[in-house]
Amino acid sequence: MTDSASPQTLPLHVMRNERIADGIHLFEFRDRAGSPLPAFTAGAHIGIRVPNGALRKYSLCNDPAERDRYLVAVKREINGRGGSINLIDTAKPGDELLVTAPVNDFGLPPRAQDFLFIAGGIGITPMRAMIWQLQAENKRFRLYYLSRSAETSAFVDELSAPEFKDRVTIHFDQGDPARSFDLRPVLAERKNREHLYCCGPRPLMEAVREMTAHWSPTAVHFEAFSDAETHKPTDRPFKVRLARSGAVVDVPVTKTILEVMRDHGLEVPSSCETGTCGTCRTRMLAGEADHRDLVLTEAERGDNIMICVSRARGDEITIDR
Ligand code: FES
Repeated sequence: MTDSASPQTLPLHVMRNERIADGIHLFEFRDRAGSPLPAFTAGAHIGIRVPNGALRKYSLCNDPAERDRYLVAVKREINGRGGSINLIDTAKPGDELLVTAPVNDFGLPPRAQDFLFIAGGIGITPMRAMIWQLQAENKRFRLYYLSRSAETSAFVDELSAPEFKDRVTIHFDQGDPARSFDLRPVLAERKNREHLYCCGPRPLMEAVREMTAHWSPTAVHFEAFSDAETHKPTDRPFKVRLARSGAVVDVPVTKTILEVMRDHGLEVPSSCETGTCGTCRTRMLAGEADHRDLVLTEAERGDNIMICVSRARGDEITIDR
């Protein structure tokens, strides 16, 4: 995670590293002297410099009204790049870690009154903060929490409380695709001008994107928690022609267009770097893109590309940079 304007970095104390479900740990961070932390709004994430030096981003899951602590729930990603495993296995209460101040690419529009949340597995974390905030603002929400099993899911007990009975649907598929929840009836129509927020594995988000093709794009919001999911074993290197300077740069399989541009000293606005926030949208002037974002509509895909995740289908594309 890298922001175009890098957020402030804070040395914070690990107060808690507690297992709350199979493979999920809750971390609490506070200032050593008890000073208030930078405020955040629901949907915000922080970056944590984990003990092995990697920077990982995690959604805040506590009440945004709290100013004295940050809470994140971290899933031990067996097939990830090792950051979450290192954090869970190594960080202990009393340790100090560098944490970037909250950034929000997944915020709730202040004037909207009705919200529909779809959380897949650990994607529940930003929704927990959203529920705190919406309850404080007397706004309405519905939550569909789709996961493998109660044992492997965070916050199941609190979301099963009687107060949420009419607003929260929790579904476990036991890892069997045949038992997955059918979201089509839920998404068939946009009720009460709802804003939809979806966070979870990329296949879930892609399915929701497809099922909401008839919704206003401004009412559908996604957040990805792993940029690793956007790389494919079949990726090939390609060239990008930068129309404004005429320069041609090589994009190897190990890098994104955005990273290569940065390597060449070209500043491009970016934030999420997982294809969900829309910041890095770039006009594409020639060539064909392999789109991997959750931002662009089909109509926009002909001449736009999100350069933090998407690649070229052929040997070269030309972009308006
Ligand atoms: S930086 Fe967020 S979509 Fe590219």
